[in-house]
Amino acid sequence: MEWLIDMVLSSDLLTGILDEVRPLLGQGKVANYIPALAHVPADRLGIAVYTVAGELFSAGDATEPFSIQSISKVLSLTLALTLYQEEEIWRRVGKEPSGQPFNSLVQLEFEQGIPRNPFINAGALVVSDLLETRLTAPRQRTLELARRLAGNPSIMADQVVARSEYQYSARNAAIAYLMKSYGNIENDVDKLLQSYFNACAIRMSCVDLARAFIYLANRGVPLGDPSPLLPARTTKQVNALLATCGLYDEAGDFAYRVGMPGKSGVGGGIVALIPGELCVCVWSPELNPAGNSLAGTAALELLADRLGRSIF
Ligand code: DON
Repeated sequence: MEWLIDMVLSSDLLTGILDEVRPLLGQGKVANYIPALAHVPADRLGIAVYTVAGELFSAGDATEPFSIQSISKVLSLTLALTLYQEEEIWRRVGKEPSGQPFNSLVQLEFEQGIPRNPFINAGALVVSDLLETRLTAPRQRTLELARRLAGNPSIMADQVVARSEYQYSARNAAIAYLMKSYGNIENDVDKLLQSYFNACAIRMSCVDLARAFIYLANRGVPLGDPSPLLPARTTKQVNALLATCGLYDEAGDFAYRVGMPGKSGVGGGIVALIPGELCVCVWSPELNPAGNSLAGTAALELLADRLGRSIF
């Protein structure tokens, strides 16, 4: 099968896909609830694909770093899975789609402070709390993981974005305090929020992200590093969660249109993958009402179609 992908995949194919979705620019809205993110030029458009064999194809603004935002939730969960027994994690955070916006609070009270999954804000805050408990420098470790997986030591967290989010943190603080009232947050909320915002503020390009997440397509093995980051079984489980929860209340629509496990961020990035074959990252800052990149989703839909691929 892999050779078939190799025959169809090319940077020209990706350039053609970007040209097809470019007319959608102007139809979405750049995230502005984090003021520092509102300044990102709305017309950026990039895509990069890494195959599990290590081949790279890219087009558009594929090497320009952007705020990875919720895509960092996959890095944090991966780090937690290397530090805890899986049941220690799943006792505190669920594995079900929420069907609610990423920053929703409503289910938390009904469900005694246990978030539905690790990819909504509440779930990611619990994962950050797990990291805070076990690591002396969780921010640094998350950043190091991003650098190592992407093979790019210059990756940084944007302190302007992190501070901006901290200034407007009422909603995430409310989520964290509500969970703390149920005993599901162990650490100081303020410290926790700073770690969480710092991870969200990491800046990476499409090329960085497609490379960084290839381990999810490669049974847990990162590119250029023979030792698995996660066991193959755990990798399969993370992919199942991405397929059902990675795009929030739009996970169903994304599965229907694209058919790959994926994770989006309000910076306009989406990472998606086909197990055994490739990892792709697309970036276009304008979002649809669910908070997912509008042109990015359309580009992934075209790519899946052109490659004749879906996990379903
Ligand atoms: O906590 C927040 O609201 C942001 N730092 C991350 C949200 C996000 O990226 C949701 N993605 N679509």
